[in-house]
Amino acid sequence: MVRNVVGQMATGDDCFGRDQEVADLWRYINNGEHILILGPRRTGKSSVMRKIADDPGEKWDAIFLNVEGEASPIGVASAILEELFKHSAYKSNLEKTALGGAIQKQWQALRTSDGPQKGNSQNNIEVIQGLLAGKWQRALDDIKERIESSPKDRSLLLLIDELPIVAARVLNGGTVAEKEDFKRFLGALRALRQNPALQGRLAFVFGGSIGFNSLLERHGVPALMNDVSAYYLGPWDRAIAEDFLNELCTDEEYLLSDEAKAAFLNCFGQFVPSHLQIGFDELRTNHRGQPPTAEEVEQCFQEKILDRASSQLLSHYLNRLEQTFSEASFTAAKEMLRHAAQSPDGVAEADVNVADEIDDEAFFAICDELRRDGYFTKQAGDRLVFESHLLRLFFKNRLRQRTRG
Ligand SMILES: Nc1ncnc2c1ncn2[C@@H]1O[C@H](COP(=O)(O)OP(=O)(O)OP(=O)(O)O)[C@@H](O)[C@H]1O
Ligand SMILES: [Mg+2]
Repeated sequence: MVRNVVGQMATGDDCFGRDQEVADLWRYINNGEHILILGPRRTGKSSVMRKIADDPGEKWDAIFLNVEGEASPIGVASAILEELFKHSAYKSNLEKTALGGAIQKQWQALRTSDGPQKGNSQNNIEVIQGLLAGKWQRALDDIKERIESSPKDRSLLLLIDELPIVAARVLNGGTVAEKEDFKRFLGALRALRQNPALQGRLAFVFGGSIGFNSLLERHGVPALMNDVSAYYLGPWDRAIAEDFLNELCTDEEYLLSDEAKAAFLNCFGQFVPSHLQIGFDELRTNHRGQPPTAEEVEQCFQEKILDRASSQLLSHYLNRLEQTFSEASFTAAKEMLRHAAQSPDGVAEADVNVADEIDDEAFFAICDELRRDGYFTKQAGDRLVFESHLLRLFFKNRLRQRTRG
């Protein structure tokens, strides 16, 4: 039974498909790799991470956490510790670590007052932060000790979502000291991954939006994540999208004809789960009584779905570029997207005109980044082509130019 969940990460039965991706990721994890799951916004990265965490293999203890709300290394480190503290296999070793003993004492004291309660994560994180006294290295040492003293046949899989957002926040907006501290933290996480004592006992899966590696490159530290394999989470293929739509129609009791279903999928061209979900929701809202014909589906796509997706989902694509590119690169990127969006066949790379201040090297670097991040693909004859009709039409509308007389 799959429900049309719009907005939240999909969990349990609502998380459709992705079996192949999950199997791939497990193979890498079991081979001893650490992974960074990358993909455009709303492709289902968090949902896949949760799916892995919800059904770990026999030897793995999986912990999923989202660190989006944290603003510093100490916050991230405390959030990881807080999760370990709740996990039976790692909590039982708590007293053995110096920090663990202190946390337990503090908790006992707090429980007798009106202070933080067990079970309230944010308060717990704050208590842990206080005990760490600004020293995130203590937290990483503590994590290492806990893993070492857990049963030898167990391994810990830490699935940490949205670390790249925290990194972007600090590296783009922090003080010089905060930036340096964050780089040291990423270096220490890397050292933890490389630690011989933890080989085979600790694996990381990071999740986040695209642009993490270029962010690190721009800040002069490209090596800090170079031991982590990037895994690109793409859209669904058409067969999976068809299965999803069929199941959705049945479970949501909204029966579409085969022609209407085919028209619906044709409208998108590329099958990102969240795009289909918004489309399905909009279709049902606009055709409540009589299910739509294929023509009505196309009309609804042009007149309703495109607008709703543009404001609810697709603006992210532009915002992210604005946040991560320099002003000149952002302007050039918009020019490339505008050119490519004009026709379903895209544009030849050579025909994209951008301002002179962007030299060839910068031009191709921007182009590669847009391609890698799922904006457009490069097809035969060096054509830049949008696979997603939704995305193409969004950029065509959003980046249109006035005709000047
Ligand atoms: N496998 C799936 N089955 C059903 N729905 C899905 C699936 N994957 C993603 N979705 C839907 O897409 C939306 C985004 O999913 P999710 O939060 O996992 O994506 P994300 O890539 O982590 O997004 P963000 O970039 O915002 O972090 C959600 O509404 C979710 O319901
Ligand atoms: Mg996510």
